[in-house]
Amino acid sequence: MPALVVIGAQWGDEGKGRVVDLLSAKADLVVRYQGGANAGHTVIVGGEKFILHLIPSGVIHPNATCLIGNGVVLDPKTLFDEIDDLIARGLDVPNRLLISERAHLTLPYHLIMDKAREAGTRSIGTTQRGIGPTYTDKIARLGVRVADVLDEELLRGRVAQNLADKAPVLNLVPEADRPKLDEILATFRVYAERLKPYVADVSAVLNEALRSGKNVLFEGAQGTGLDIDFGTYPYVTSSNASAGGACTGSGIGPTKIDRVIGISKAYLTRVGLGPFPSKMEPEAEALARQRGNEYGATTGRPRDCGWFDLPLMKHSAEINGLDGVVITKLDVLDAFAEIKVCVAYQCGDTRYDRLPASLSQLAKCEPVFETMPGWEADTSAARTLADLPGNARRYLERLNALTGVPLSAVSVGPSREEIILLDETLPAYAF
Ligand code: GDP
Ligand code: IMO
Ligand code: MG
Repeated sequence: MPALVVIGAQWGDEGKGRVVDLLSAKADLVVRYQGGANAGHTVIVGGEKFILHLIPSGVIHPNATCLIGNGVVLDPKTLFDEIDDLIARGLDVPNRLLISERAHLTLPYHLIMDKAREAGTRSIGTTQRGIGPTYTDKIARLGVRVADVLDEELLRGRVAQNLADKAPVLNLVPEADRPKLDEILATFRVYAERLKPYVADVSAVLNEALRSGKNVLFEGAQGTGLDIDFGTYPYVTSSNASAGGACTGSGIGPTKIDRVIGISKAYLTRVGLGPFPSKMEPEAEALARQRGNEYGATTGRPRDCGWFDLPLMKHSAEINGLDGVVITKLDVLDAFAEIKVCVAYQCGDTRYDRLPASLSQLAKCEPVFETMPGWEADTSAARTLADLPGNARRYLERLNALTGVPLSAVSVGPSREEIILLDETLPAYAF
């Protein structure tokens, strides 16, 4: 490596978890640096399925230490449920996980605020995990960090202030369901004890590891289209899901990053609300959803499906400085007679080659499609490009030519070994 960043190049659920698992085989440290339990990263090993929400997907391999950086927002209940589940499945999480003392915590009132907002007219289709309200408090300097729960007096003052500030919204829920100061403090006293052994100065650990030549893998959550700055605002998440977040969310300098790899499906999905110019026609969408099992790993919601979107991908390639791309779920397209690629958006007389910022422009955009013949054959057994049908190879070559980003790998099934590795320098699992 030594420092490699893996990010979602689309609107999330690209298959980051399975790629991070693949690359974790030779990693010393695997780091989550933004997002929270809104993420659902799936790893399938030997028929066993893991869905990781907060713990880095490197946890499945025994070699890597997992770090949760300052940029992540943590709901302690979800965190400990996940830790307990992984321990029950035989993973030694207690000796392999460190959590930044600077990470912000999701408190019960954040969940209520998220739900209340979603119930109103300005819903954006969040995962209702309290993500937006937790980051809002962080930026407003009202947040509660891991270090703060270890100091009960400080915590009491901070929570009391928040409950008072948020009373107009919190009072909308029945009295019995309203968060109470003493109950929160009692619960967080227990969390504080459980957190203690995991708490670390993650930035210092990372910098020391990089100095001594260790391999560090950064695992992005969500995707560039959901990035707070570069996504389809306001239909985005509340953190920097793009590669820049790896530095600010973990405490390393940009000079320490060697490589950035983007993950992209061979098509496109989106869950939640927001513009989706390359959305498939209903019949094709139903087929993609069924073949790709396109239901949210966190919420179970059906994902909307569309064709590969070049303006989004070009935007992603630049925002993240992509060195390579892993195309996932090629096998999902095996049943399609024709495959489309959205090469641009047409909005009146304006043609966009990159994702525009204006939501009203985006809403008026018509996709410009290029159509290619499908291959209508099973690709799941392919382990080299030569194993693929000619039309599948031509599709990948076309994506490569259009995006200008080298292909690092192509996945043809959800299991660890269902992969065509193209970049020999990737520190991946050897099959
Ligand atoms: P993430 O959030 O980016 O880690 O992605 P998710 O785990 O939310 O969604 C990706 C889904 O696609 C998961 O159910 C994976 O098991 C599955 N998956 C990943 N790669 C492939 C692939 O190449 N083919 C198929 N059919 N499924 C895949
Ligand atoms: P992974 O890491 C796909 C979407 C939500 C919603 C918007 C804001 O598995 O790729 P939030 O709860 O973050 O405030 O919701 O972002 N979203 C995701 N979509 N994959 C994810 O994570 C997502 N995390 C959030 O659906 O549209
Ligand atoms: Mg996911």
